[in-house]
Amino acid sequence: MIRVVLIGAGNIAFHLAKAFGNSNGVDLIQRYSRDNKNDSYFNRNIPKTNSINNLQKADIYIIAINDDAISTLSKQLTFTDGLVVHTSGSKPLNSLKCKANKGIFYPLQTFSKEKELSYNQIPICIETENTNDTSLLRSLAKLISENVYKIDLHQREKLHIAAVFVNNFSNHMFKLANDICVENNISFDILKPLIFETTEKLNDLSPYKAQTGPAKRNDIEVIKKQLQQLDNNKKEIYNLVTNSIIKTYNS
Ligand SMILES: NC(=O)c1ccc[n+]([C@@H]2O[C@H](COP(=O)([O-])OP(=O)(O)OC[C@H]3O[C@@H](n4cnc5c(N)ncnc54)[C@H](OP(=O)(O)O)[C@@H]3O)[C@@H](O)[C@H]2O)c1
Repeated sequence: MIRVVLIGAGNIAFHLAKAFGNSNGVDLIQRYSRDNKNDSYFNRNIPKTNSINNLQKADIYIIAINDDAISTLSKQLTFTDGLVVHTSGSKPLNSLKCKANKGIFYPLQTFSKEKELSYNQIPICIETENTNDTSLLRSLAKLISENVYKIDLHQREKLHIAAVFVNNFSNHMFKLANDICVENNISFDILKPLIFETTEKLNDLSPYKAQTGPAKRNDIEVIKKQLQQLDNNKKEIYNLVTNSIIKTYNS
């Protein structure tokens, strides 16, 4: 059994606690959070502390808190045994200021407490300062997911940017599309099959080949007409993305 202490009580901590709870190989011996805000989301049987000086001895300590707080919190971890990891896509190993060995345990997925997930397909990117810790961290990741990757800082930073494009930006596009639907009394549900097919299609075609639409066809009249119907914010985004598509297919 790998003994784990989980630090933080946000989206990632909630989902990791659930995944570890479903695994026979992980003993989640304790969780820490600085307040009691999200306690109701967690299984009551997991021992909880609000004191960072009161952590149990574990094999792995997972810091799942805001990126900007990782250094300050990890500085307070004065023990030297065990492996301390964070879950950030963009923070380097040396953002961990603890004395114990350091690593990264970055699950590449979008996590919200309100949304159930199946964990076994979630890619988990690991990195360790000390090569001896790689197998321990890989074993932990393998207990909850089939997709474990050893990724260095450079790759993780780039992956995180790619993830911002595929998830955060796409979702913002869905939000803008939803606004257009609401403003015109149309159900957003009508667009859902298109949204699902857009991603499903990537199982068969590259994103380059999958592209369709007025910008890909360079249908200038349609583009002009659509632009006239948009407010300034949407117009700016429409223009930027349209020009990028036109450049991609006409170069
Ligand atoms: N959510 C995702 O989709 C996702 C995916 C991959 C990686 N990550 C990474 O996972 C980490 C956590 O993200 P999240 O989405 O779980 O964040 P979150 O839901 O906003 O939760 C952040 C947690 O950190 C705690 N916290 C913040 N500052 C703290 C401090 N100074 N001391 C102690 N606790 C502190 C918060 O406590 P309070 O409630 O008291 O503020 C909260 O429990 C980040 O590094 C993020 O980059 C997130």
